[in-house]
Amino acid sequence: MKRLHSYLLKTCLLFMSLLSISTNALAQSAAETIYDEARIPAYQLPDPLRFNDATPVKSVADWTRRRTELLRLFAENVYGKTPDQKLPKPRVEVTSVEKLALGGKATRKEVTVWLSPQHPMRVLMYLPNSAGSKPAPVFLGLNFYGNQATNADPGITMATSWVPEQAANSMSSHRAAEASRGLDAHQWDVNAMLSRGYGLVTVYCGDLDPDFHDGYKNGIQPLFYKSGQTKPDSSEWGTVGAWAYGLSRAMDYLETDPAVDARQVALFGHSRMGKAALWAGAQDLRFAIVISNESGEGGAALARRRIGERIVHLNSRFPHWFCDKFKTFNEREDALPVDQHELLALIAPRPLYVASAEDDKWSDPKGEFMGAQAASPVYALFGLKGLTTTAFPAVNQPVGGGHIAYHIRTGKHDVTPYDWARYLDFADTHFKKK
Ligand code: GCU
Repeated sequence: MKRLHSYLLKTCLLFMSLLSISTNALAQSAAETIYDEARIPAYQLPDPLRFNDATPVKSVADWTRRRTELLRLFAENVYGKTPDQKLPKPRVEVTSVEKLALGGKATRKEVTVWLSPQHPMRVLMYLPNSAGSKPAPVFLGLNFYGNQATNADPGITMATSWVPEQAANSMSSHRAAEASRGLDAHQWDVNAMLSRGYGLVTVYCGDLDPDFHDGYKNGIQPLFYKSGQTKPDSSEWGTVGAWAYGLSRAMDYLETDPAVDARQVALFGHSRMGKAALWAGAQDLRFAIVISNESGEGGAALARRRIGERIVHLNSRFPHWFCDKFKTFNEREDALPVDQHELLALIAPRPLYVASAEDDKWSDPKGEFMGAQAASPVYALFGLKGLTTTAFPAVNQPVGGGHIAYHIRTGKHDVTPYDWARYLDFADTHFKKK
């Protein structure tokens, strides 16, 4: 009897372990990465120009209401809601000014916006000295590793918040290392910006919320908790939402700085920072141009194509980026009430640039192009030309002479001088520079 019992128990355990292996295998195969267009199931994109109740959006006035609906859908299902309540007005402190930075071409200015006594957001600016006393147009973007990583300039104050291993002193310290100065400089072509009369403004994303999942303890989210709340609710913001919030707070500062033309701020973001830039640009109409550099899934790429990275990959590798509810759409792209072309449409009528890289298949370049295309009817509603090109362009052949531009360049997932040259041309066109 005892032996029979143990035999049954063993069989049962074996069966259970087989079951768990097969469910894991199933989960893995379902989350498999698809690169073959032929394997995309038929899908229908939601129509940005139809209200939730299916009535058509016929005018710019209608769009204003539809915009509110779409913002809510993205907030509740994807990025999480940005808190309505305002923090006390942050104290702003200019911590350094160097008028002869970068060989005399720029004025380097560092400003700390104290979101709370524990959350200093450090804004690094390079403004073109060629502008004289004229306010300069600028590019604003979040960086990955700390402001010191965006340029080898030894005068930049080191990040004080947690930084990723690549920029840290040691694997365990997560404190910015001297050696991280200029780590990412190749992605910030500040010389090109300055020589064409633009400034650069950048903020380290980790000042808003360090990029790892700690249950939002070290980010700005707790500053907004209701009493007794210990984590964001399922439809409240995650890390990308906090990053986007920081971009708007940087904009608040720029509006007060006479050296900056706050009506000419082009918001830029690469990859995960591109997702944040698009979400910030969608919510905050003060950004005059929005640029998505290889923002991929959760950015400019259509989720329903399921090519390259998918929602399930995003949510399993970066569980902190989006709201919890977004996880309910893992492998259920069709159930999502929005798709990313509608996020791009929320930039309208402002100029939008979407860019991809040929070897960055994970971001689904064609899905990014199609996202920009499918946002275009909203620009047309404003009487503006969106991305009317129908064929996917050849590499290094930028398209779109109107309010939406697109390019796919040769090379890998990165930001290169080629990309910046295109963004500068685009900004010149729309900021009507002579
Ligand atoms: C990962 C992630 C992408 C993201 C990218 C980046 O590859 O899967 O969604 O865009 O990192 O930020 O570099």
